[in-house]
Amino acid sequence: MKILAIHGSPRTIRSTTRQLTQSVLAGAAEAGADTDLIDLCDLRVTPCTACEGCSFNGVCVYDDDVPTLVQRMKDADGIIFASPVYIDNVSGQMKIFFDRLADIIHYQVLSGKYGCSVASTHTSGGDGIVAYQNHVLNYLGVIAVGGISVATGGDSGAVDAREADARALGKKLADAIKGGFSDPKQEEEITSNREFFRDLVIENKDFRTEDYERWVRMGWIP
Ligand SMILES: Cc1cc2nc3c(=O)[nH]c(=O)nc-3n(C[C@H](O)[C@H](O)[C@H](O)COP(=O)(O)O)c2cc1C
Repeated sequence: MKILAIHGSPRTIRSTTRQLTQSVLAGAAEAGADTDLIDLCDLRVTPCTACEGCSFNGVCVYDDDVPTLVQRMKDADGIIFASPVYIDNVSGQMKIFFDRLADIIHYQVLSGKYGCSVASTHTSGGDGIVAYQNHVLNYLGVIAVGGISVATGGDSGAVDAREADARALGKKLADAIKGGFSDPKQEEEITSNREFFRDLVIENKDFRTEDYERWVRMGWIP
């Protein structure tokens, strides 16, 4: 069982978001997962320019680190998104990465996995960013088991105080991968997204044949 955390603070090892995420991963490891954390700021992630090149073959025109990262997500059973709150949103690094996921959202390449989200903030917005990142997981076809956010108020001990909660979240994610986790509301949303994307998959079947056939095999195209 593999769990991959994708972390969007540019402060790397000084990051409170990263520290909180490491505790989530520690809880998952205790429950038997192989864990890994990737700092987005160490990777080359080019902003999407909406050229629609990926629509033709799933391959971005930019030769950077995103395809490797997507492969790592495909190889994982669990995915964690982790970002600090920057002006009431995820960090720029995280948002640029999210924008590069449009094609794998359309074709539901990561469907059936589980995930959760992590955020840290000085004062406000943490829960909203957890909810937003979990919403992106749902777009990907991934069920979110929960999330954790910490408002530090500038106190570095605030993250330490939530270590047990973070570890419990990691265990919950690992347990979901092992035994399943059901959330009818998220399942309904994922099903309705898939119905929305189905027309695109059918329309593009002549040049996205493998994707089309996977959708037929999955029973997503009657
Ligand atoms: C560019 C920038 C924007 C920020 N915007 C907010 C904000 O809107 N609300 C807030 O409470 N904290 C804000 N903060 C504070 C960070 O969210 C907070 O320090 C967070 O814990 C940093 O996480 P990190 O150590 O993982 O980078 C901002 C910090 C930066 C650098």
